[in-house]
Amino acid sequence: MLTNKKIILGVCGGIAAYKAIELMRLLTKAGAEVHVIMTRAAQEFIAPLTFQTLSSNPVHTDLFNLIAEREIGHISLADCADLFIIVPATANIIGKIAAGIADDMLTTTVMATKSPVLFAPAMNVNMFTNPIYQENEQKLRRMGYLFEAPVNGSLACGWHGEGKLAAPESVFESAVMALANKDLAGKTILITAGPTREEIDPVRYISNHSSGKMGYALARVARRRGAQVLLISGPTALANPDGVQVINVISAAEMQSEVNARVTACDVVIKAAAVADYRPVARNSTKIKKNAAVTTIDLVKNPDILAGLGGMSLRPFLVGFAAETDALAENAAKKLTEKNLDMIVANDVSQADAGFNVDTNRALLFFKDGSSRSCDLMSKDQLSMEILDQVVARLAVR
Ligand code: CTP
Repeated sequence: MLTNKKIILGVCGGIAAYKAIELMRLLTKAGAEVHVIMTRAAQEFIAPLTFQTLSSNPVHTDLFNLIAEREIGHISLADCADLFIIVPATANIIGKIAAGIADDMLTTTVMATKSPVLFAPAMNVNMFTNPIYQENEQKLRRMGYLFEAPVNGSLACGWHGEGKLAAPESVFESAVMALANKDLAGKTILITAGPTREEIDPVRYISNHSSGKMGYALARVARRRGAQVLLISGPTALANPDGVQVINVISAAEMQSEVNARVTACDVVIKAAAVADYRPVARNSTKIKKNAAVTTIDLVKNPDILAGLGGMSLRPFLVGFAAETDALAENAAKKLTEKNLDMIVANDVSQADAGFNVDTNRALLFFKDGSSRSCDLMSKDQLSMEILDQVVARLAVR
């Protein structure tokens, strides 16, 4: 996701400085090249060697270090950056940058860069709400600097309130957002995810192994690329993706009514949900007791939500999924035609490293024009990028 991206991570002196290590791990894992600049105060909390070892790059601490300046000086760092992230951003650093003070390596480099700068502030709640701090933040926001707002929580100083550093995962998500190509800006995408549950009685249901990971990855990646995303999700254990409107449903019937109520406002619908094909004819209102000796349950077919969309006269760009265990290509091609789709993502859900409940997937993409494309084993985020690349290209010529 961040391959070939150079990120300058500015670390300031705050107790949350240790969380910058976790952020750096996420950035390097996503392929970024990270260069760290530490303020003098940051070095009171963490040794530069920690960042140096984990980033595999020298850590910059001193503006007037002749050796480091000769190898890669503050201007080269400023010029090579795709993104600056300052974490934890103290009231002091934000005040200095807002006032144009450049008196150390970090402030000087930030002043000289043309790359986006993302601040993740962390401070005492009274410092955070102080009008002086607030004015500085507003001034920087007006100038286009980005902020990952702190959250409410217990602060190291003993107070409780706003000022706690946002989770490293949230800062990472904002960094990826800041760097992403916004080729889906202005588009509304509806994505369904997860399984549906068809209740038998108050304690039992029929469902499947879908975890929702593929649909949630699509929602996250579409939002990064600038789309307005609606995620209609069956029951999952996943956290809601940042910046995505999530509508939770249980059954196929609920999913269908939520999808149908929103579809006309959408440019694209991606149906990653594993919808249960059948539901019990009747749901027992009380628990069916063992001694009732029920050995069969009468089922009735659920409506096919996607086929319904395919039948609309004026319909959005439709992407289906085909969960198969055999005859992958034939079954997927048949669903593409029968449901009148623009594209279908076929995955073999019988494999251990693809399909249900894992972070990776491999897929065959089939298109309405008869073409196809193969995607080898990759993360679900990467596969989402591939799918959305195809959506963007095909929307443009639709
Ligand atoms: N789908 C749907 N409504 C259903 C069943 C499936 O909208 N009642 C959608 C799924 O979200 C997916 C596509 O149709 O995008 C294909 O789903 P899949 O489970 O692979 O196939 P089915 O059409 O259910 O057919 P089968 O179970 O026979 O493979």
